[in-house]
Amino acid sequence: MVIFLILFLCQARVNINRFTIIGSFFYIQDCMTLVNIENLNKSYFIQDKGVSILSDLNFKVEESEIVSVEGASGVGKSTLLNIIGAMDHFDTGTVQVCGVDLGKISEVEKEKFRATKISFIFQHHLLLPDFSAIENVSIPLLINKVNPNKAKQKAKDMLERVGLGERLDNFPSQLSGGESARVGVARALVTGKQLILADEPTGNLDKTTSKSLMNMVLALQKELKFSMIIVTHDTELASLSTRRNKLISGVLKPI
Ligand SMILES: Nc1ncnc2c1ncn2[C@@H]1O[C@H](COP(=O)(O)OP(=O)(O)O)[C@@H](O)[C@H]1O
Ligand SMILES: [Mg+2]
Repeated sequence: MVIFLILFLCQARVNINRFTIIGSFFYIQDCMTLVNIENLNKSYFIQDKGVSILSDLNFKVEESEIVSVEGASGVGKSTLLNIIGAMDHFDTGTVQVCGVDLGKISEVEKEKFRATKISFIFQHHLLLPDFSAIENVSIPLLINKVNPNKAKQKAKDMLERVGLGERLDNFPSQLSGGESARVGVARALVTGKQLILADEPTGNLDKTTSKSLMNMVLALQKELKFSMIIVTHDTELASLSTRRNKLISGVLKPI
Protein backbone atom coordinates (compact mmCIF):
# COMPACT_ATOMS: atom_id res chain seq x y z
CA MET A 1 0.00 0.00 0.00
CA VAL A 2 2.86 2.37 0.88
CA ILE A 3 4.61 1.64 -2.44
CA PHE A 4 1.33 2.31 -4.21
CA LEU A 5 1.01 5.63 -2.42
CA ILE A 6 4.55 6.66 -3.31
CA LEU A 7 3.90 5.80 -6.97
CA PHE A 8 0.60 7.64 -6.83
CA LEU A 9 2.24 10.72 -5.37
CA CYS A 10 5.30 10.57 -7.65
CA GLN A 11 3.64 11.90 -10.75
CA ALA A 12 5.13 14.53 -12.99
CA ARG A 13 3.37 17.71 -13.82
CA VAL A 14 3.55 20.13 -16.70
CA ASN A 15 1.67 23.30 -16.00
CA ILE A 16 1.61 26.43 -18.07
CA ASN A 17 -0.41 29.15 -16.36
CA ARG A 18 -4.11 28.26 -16.54
CA PHE A 19 -3.60 25.63 -19.23
CA THR A 20 -2.26 22.23 -18.48
CA ILE A 21 -0.85 20.04 -21.21
CA ILE A 22 -1.44 16.35 -20.86
CA GLY A 23 0.03 14.69 -23.94
CA SER A 24 -1.97 16.12 -26.78
CA PHE A 25 -4.79 17.23 -24.47
CA PHE A 26 -5.36 20.81 -23.51
CA TYR A 27 -7.84 21.72 -20.93
CA ILE A 28 -8.79 24.71 -18.88
CA GLN A 29 -8.25 24.39 -15.15
CA ASP A 30 -11.12 26.60 -14.07
CA CYS A 31 -14.41 25.05 -15.09
CA MET A 32 -17.90 25.04 -13.64
CA THR A 33 -18.84 21.38 -14.03
CA LEU A 34 -16.05 19.43 -12.42
CA VAL A 35 -17.53 15.99 -12.93
CA ASN A 36 -19.82 15.00 -15.77
CA ILE A 37 -20.57 11.30 -16.04
CA GLU A 38 -23.01 9.89 -18.57
CA ASN A 39 -24.21 6.30 -18.92
CA LEU A 40 -21.30 4.83 -17.00
CA ASN A 41 -21.10 1.05 -16.92
CA LYS A 42 -18.60 -0.95 -14.91
CA SER A 43 -18.43 -4.67 -14.26
CA TYR A 44 -15.92 -6.83 -12.47
CA PHE A 45 -15.11 -10.38 -13.38
CA ILE A 46 -15.55 -12.41 -10.24
CA GLN A 47 -14.77 -16.11 -10.64
CA ASP A 48 -14.95 -15.74 -14.45
CA LYS A 49 -18.41 -14.24 -14.23
CA GLY A 50 -19.14 -10.60 -15.13
CA VAL A 51 -20.85 -8.81 -12.26
CA SER A 52 -22.34 -5.41 -13.05
CA ILE A 53 -21.42 -2.80 -10.41
CA LEU A 54 -22.38 0.51 -12.08
CA SER A 55 -25.14 0.52 -14.63
CA ASP A 56 -25.89 3.50 -16.92
CA LEU A 57 -24.96 5.80 -14.06
CA ASN A 58 -25.18 9.58 -14.49
CA PHE A 59 -23.53 12.06 -12.12
CA LYS A 60 -22.61 15.74 -12.15
CA VAL A 61 -20.63 17.78 -9.65
CA GLU A 62 -20.42 21.54 -9.98
CA GLU A 63 -17.82 23.94 -8.64
CA SER A 64 -17.74 24.32 -4.82
CA GLU A 65 -20.25 21.55 -4.18
CA ILE A 66 -19.90 18.95 -1.44
CA VAL A 67 -21.68 15.88 -2.74
CA SER A 68 -22.21 12.63 -0.90
CA VAL A 69 -22.26 9.16 -2.41
CA GLU A 70 -23.94 6.94 0.14
CA GLY A 71 -25.01 3.34 0.16
CA ALA A 72 -24.45 -0.03 1.74
CA SER A 73 -21.08 -1.72 1.79
CA GLY A 74 -20.24 -3.36 -1.53
CA VAL A 75 -22.60 -1.34 -3.75
CA GLY A 76 -19.74 0.26 -5.69
CA LYS A 77 -19.07 3.60 -3.96
CA SER A 78 -15.27 3.23 -3.96
CA THR A 79 -15.39 1.87 -7.50
CA LEU A 80 -17.15 5.05 -8.65
CA LEU A 81 -14.71 7.29 -6.78
CA ASN A 82 -11.73 5.41 -8.20
CA ILE A 83 -13.09 5.83 -11.72
CA ILE A 84 -13.50 9.58 -11.17
CA GLY A 85 -9.93 9.69 -9.87
CA ALA A 86 -8.64 7.77 -12.93
CA MET A 87 -7.53 4.97 -10.63
CA ASP A 88 -9.79 2.36 -12.19
CA HIS A 89 -11.04 1.57 -15.70
CA PHE A 90 -14.64 1.51 -16.83
CA ASP A 91 -16.45 -0.42 -19.55
CA THR A 92 -18.63 2.11 -21.37
CA GLY A 93 -19.95 5.64 -20.95
CA THR A 94 -18.39 9.08 -20.68
CA VAL A 95 -16.42 10.28 -17.66
CA GLN A 96 -15.27 13.88 -17.84
CA VAL A 97 -13.47 15.36 -14.86
CA CYS A 98 -12.69 19.04 -15.13
CA GLY A 99 -12.91 18.89 -18.90
CA VAL A 100 -10.70 15.81 -19.28
CA ASP A 101 -12.33 12.85 -20.97
CA LEU A 102 -10.94 9.97 -18.93
CA GLY A 103 -12.02 7.40 -21.52
CA LYS A 104 -9.74 8.97 -24.10
CA ILE A 105 -6.43 9.42 -22.32
CA SER A 106 -3.51 7.03 -21.90
CA GLU A 107 -2.21 5.62 -18.62
CA VAL A 108 0.65 8.16 -18.60
CA GLU A 109 -1.82 10.98 -19.17
CA LYS A 110 -3.94 9.61 -16.33
CA GLU A 111 -0.94 9.84 -14.00
CA LYS A 112 -0.50 13.47 -14.95
CA PHE A 113 -4.23 14.05 -14.54
CA ARG A 114 -4.08 12.69 -10.98
CA ALA A 115 -1.08 14.82 -10.12
CA THR A 116 -2.64 18.04 -11.34
CA LYS A 117 -6.40 17.76 -10.90
CA ILE A 118 -7.49 15.76 -7.88
CA SER A 119 -6.56 14.85 -4.33
CA PHE A 120 -7.68 11.84 -2.34
CA ILE A 121 -8.47 11.62 1.35
CA PHE A 122 -8.31 7.99 2.42
CA GLN A 123 -9.97 6.23 5.34
CA HIS A 124 -6.62 4.90 6.55
CA HIS A 125 -4.85 8.21 5.78
CA LEU A 126 -1.94 6.35 4.10
CA LEU A 127 0.76 8.58 5.52
CA LEU A 128 4.33 7.55 4.77
CA PRO A 129 5.56 6.12 8.11
CA ASP A 130 9.20 7.22 7.77
CA PHE A 131 8.32 10.83 7.04
CA SER A 132 7.26 13.48 9.55
CA ALA A 133 3.93 15.30 9.33
CA ILE A 134 5.49 18.27 7.55
CA GLU A 135 7.34 15.98 5.13
CA ASN A 136 4.17 14.02 4.36
CA VAL A 137 2.32 17.24 3.54
CA SER A 138 5.26 18.61 1.50
CA ILE A 139 5.47 15.57 -0.77
CA PRO A 140 2.69 16.48 -3.26
CA LEU A 141 4.22 19.95 -3.58
CA LEU A 142 7.71 18.59 -4.20
CA ILE A 143 6.30 16.24 -6.83
CA ASN A 144 4.77 19.26 -8.49
CA LYS A 145 8.23 20.83 -8.50
CA VAL A 146 7.55 23.50 -5.90
CA ASN A 147 10.79 24.87 -4.44
CA PRO A 148 11.62 22.84 -1.27
CA ASN A 149 11.69 25.88 1.05
CA LYS A 150 8.38 27.11 -0.32
CA ALA A 151 6.93 23.60 -0.05
CA LYS A 152 7.99 23.39 3.59
CA GLN A 153 6.43 26.77 4.34
CA LYS A 154 3.18 25.85 2.58
CA ALA A 155 3.03 22.50 4.39
CA LYS A 156 3.63 24.25 7.71
CA ASP A 157 0.86 26.77 7.00
CA MET A 158 -1.58 24.02 6.08
CA LEU A 159 -0.71 21.94 9.15
CA GLU A 160 -1.26 25.02 11.31
CA ARG A 161 -4.67 25.49 9.69
CA VAL A 162 -5.67 21.95 10.61
CA GLY A 163 -4.54 22.54 14.19
CA LEU A 164 -1.26 20.64 14.05
CA GLY A 165 1.20 23.50 14.25
CA GLU A 166 2.79 21.86 17.28
CA ARG A 167 3.15 18.45 15.64
CA LEU A 168 5.10 19.31 12.49
CA ASP A 169 8.03 17.00 13.20
CA ASN A 170 6.05 14.09 14.59
CA PHE A 171 6.01 10.82 12.67
CA PRO A 172 2.69 9.04 11.92
CA SER A 173 3.39 6.52 14.72
CA GLN A 174 3.46 9.47 17.16
CA LEU A 175 0.06 10.79 16.07
CA SER A 176 -3.44 9.71 17.09
CA GLY A 177 -6.00 8.54 14.53
CA GLY A 178 -7.63 11.99 14.50
CA GLU A 179 -4.29 13.76 14.11
CA SER A 180 -3.25 11.43 11.29
CA ALA A 181 -6.57 12.15 9.59
CA ARG A 182 -5.81 15.88 9.84
CA VAL A 183 -2.41 15.35 8.24
CA GLY A 184 -4.21 13.44 5.45
CA VAL A 185 -6.55 16.40 4.97
CA ALA A 186 -3.65 18.87 4.96
CA ARG A 187 -1.83 16.76 2.36
CA ALA A 188 -4.96 16.69 0.17
CA LEU A 189 -5.53 20.45 0.38
CA VAL A 190 -1.99 21.82 0.27
CA THR A 191 -1.75 21.77 -3.54
CA GLY A 192 -4.97 23.76 -3.95
CA LYS A 193 -6.72 21.24 -6.19
CA GLN A 194 -10.30 21.94 -7.22
CA LEU A 195 -11.62 18.45 -6.60
CA ILE A 196 -11.15 16.38 -3.45
CA LEU A 197 -12.21 12.74 -3.44
CA ALA A 198 -12.82 11.40 0.05
CA ASP A 199 -13.44 7.70 0.61
CA GLU A 200 -14.92 7.07 4.06
CA PRO A 201 -12.73 9.88 5.45
CA THR A 202 -13.91 9.35 9.02
CA GLY A 203 -14.35 5.59 8.70
CA ASN A 204 -12.01 4.61 11.52
CA LEU A 205 -12.55 7.57 13.85
CA ASP A 206 -14.85 7.82 16.86
CA LYS A 207 -17.94 10.02 16.62
CA THR A 208 -16.50 13.10 18.34
CA THR A 209 -13.22 13.04 16.40
CA SER A 210 -15.08 12.42 13.18
CA LYS A 211 -17.39 15.39 13.78
CA SER A 212 -14.54 17.73 14.60
CA LEU A 213 -12.59 16.59 11.49
CA MET A 214 -15.60 17.21 9.27
CA ASN A 215 -16.31 20.62 10.79
CA MET A 216 -12.72 21.54 10.11
CA VAL A 217 -12.97 20.34 6.48
CA LEU A 218 -16.20 22.32 6.01
CA ALA A 219 -14.63 25.48 7.39
CA LEU A 220 -11.67 25.07 5.02
CA GLN A 221 -14.03 24.42 2.11
CA LYS A 222 -15.84 27.72 2.74
CA GLU A 223 -12.52 29.48 2.40
CA LEU A 224 -10.77 27.46 -0.30
CA LYS A 225 -13.94 26.66 -2.35
CA PHE A 226 -12.87 23.22 -3.48
CA SER A 227 -15.46 20.65 -4.52
CA MET A 228 -15.59 17.39 -2.66
CA ILE A 229 -17.17 14.02 -3.24
CA ILE A 230 -17.61 12.17 0.03
CA VAL A 231 -18.15 8.45 -0.17
CA THR A 232 -19.62 7.20 3.08
CA HIS A 233 -22.13 4.92 4.71
CA ASP A 234 -22.31 7.33 7.68
CA THR A 235 -25.54 9.31 7.29
CA GLU A 236 -24.49 11.88 9.89
CA LEU A 237 -21.36 12.70 7.92
CA ALA A 238 -23.32 12.67 4.66
CA SER A 239 -25.85 15.14 6.06
CA LEU A 240 -23.10 17.79 6.02
CA SER A 241 -23.03 17.66 2.21
CA THR A 242 -24.68 20.27 0.04
CA ARG A 243 -26.21 17.49 -2.09
CA ARG A 244 -26.79 13.88 -1.19
CA ASN A 245 -27.00 10.79 -3.38
CA LYS A 246 -27.43 7.11 -2.74
CA LEU A 247 -25.93 4.40 -4.90
CA ILE A 248 -28.54 1.69 -5.42
CA SER A 249 -28.48 -1.09 -8.01
CA GLY A 250 -25.69 0.56 -9.96
CA VAL A 251 -27.27 4.02 -10.27
CA LEU A 252 -27.13 7.20 -8.18
CA LYS A 253 -30.39 8.48 -6.80
CA PRO A 254 -30.79 11.90 -5.14
CA ILE A 255 -31.82 11.73 -1.50
N1 LIG B 1 -10.71 -5.36 -8.18
C1 LIG B 1 -11.87 -5.99 -8.00
N2 LIG B 1 -12.10 -7.19 -8.58
C2 LIG B 1 -13.28 -7.81 -8.43
N3 LIG B 1 -14.31 -7.31 -7.70
C3 LIG B 1 -14.13 -6.14 -7.11
C4 LIG B 1 -12.92 -5.40 -7.21
N4 LIG B 1 -13.04 -4.24 -6.52
C5 LIG B 1 -14.28 -4.26 -6.00
N5 LIG B 1 -14.94 -5.40 -6.35
C6 LIG B 1 -16.31 -5.74 -6.01
O1 LIG B 1 -17.15 -4.69 -6.47
C7 LIG B 1 -18.18 -4.45 -5.53
C8 LIG B 1 -18.16 -2.99 -5.15
O2 LIG B 1 -16.98 -2.72 -4.39
P1 LIG B 1 -16.69 -1.29 -3.75
O3 LIG B 1 -16.75 -0.27 -4.83
O4 LIG B 1 -15.43 -1.41 -3.01
O5 LIG B 1 -17.93 -1.12 -2.77
P2 LIG B 1 -18.19 -0.03 -1.61
O6 LIG B 1 -17.11 0.96 -1.67
O7 LIG B 1 -19.55 0.51 -1.90
O8 LIG B 1 -18.19 -0.81 -0.35
C9 LIG B 1 -17.96 -5.40 -4.36
O9 LIG B 1 -18.79 -6.50 -4.55
C10 LIG B 1 -16.52 -5.78 -4.49
O10 LIG B 1 -16.29 -7.06 -4.00
MG1 LIG C 1 -15.61 1.43 -0.25
